Amino acid sequence: MIAIGSDHGGYELKGEVIAWLKENNYEYMEFGCMDGNSIDYPNVAEEVCAKVLDGTAEYAILICGTGIGISMAANKINGIRAALCTDTYMAKYTRLHNNANVLCMGGRVLGAGAALEIVDTFLHTGFEGGRHQRRIDLLTDIENKMKG
Ligand code: RB5
Repeated sequence: MIAIGSDHGGYELKGEVIAWLKENNYEYMEFGCMDGNSIDYPNVAEEVCAKVLDGTAEYAILICGTGIGISMAANKINGIRAALCTDTYMAKYTRLHNNANVLCMGGRVLGAGAALEIVDTFLHTGFEGGRHQRRIDLLTDIENKMKG
């Protein structure tokens, strides 16, 4: 299951990604902007990331205008490793090395062709583990130390 959400800046690209998910037989849950009207990306990030944290979704895809705001919001949440990707190299290595569970993209930055290749790479690349797990554990340590 893929949870996908966008604000208005990512609305159009979200539609392209959903069409691709359907074509490729992925189950998905859609959140956020359901038309072109302005909404606030932090709320979308919170709602979508909750689906990853409670195990309903394996991965989430978040899209805003640049991908920056929505990735900032997602990375505030303990247990979320959100990666803003602008090419397939980033998508590949954020799965291999960071075990990213949320893919973020910019709807005003990427064309649909590039974005769909990024999605494909992200969803088909596994975590390498090994020394990278130690670094993920260090990320979790930071989350635990900073808990208020
Ligand atoms: C909305 O205009 C825009 O600020 C938002 O989509 C995003 O790009 C924020 O980082």
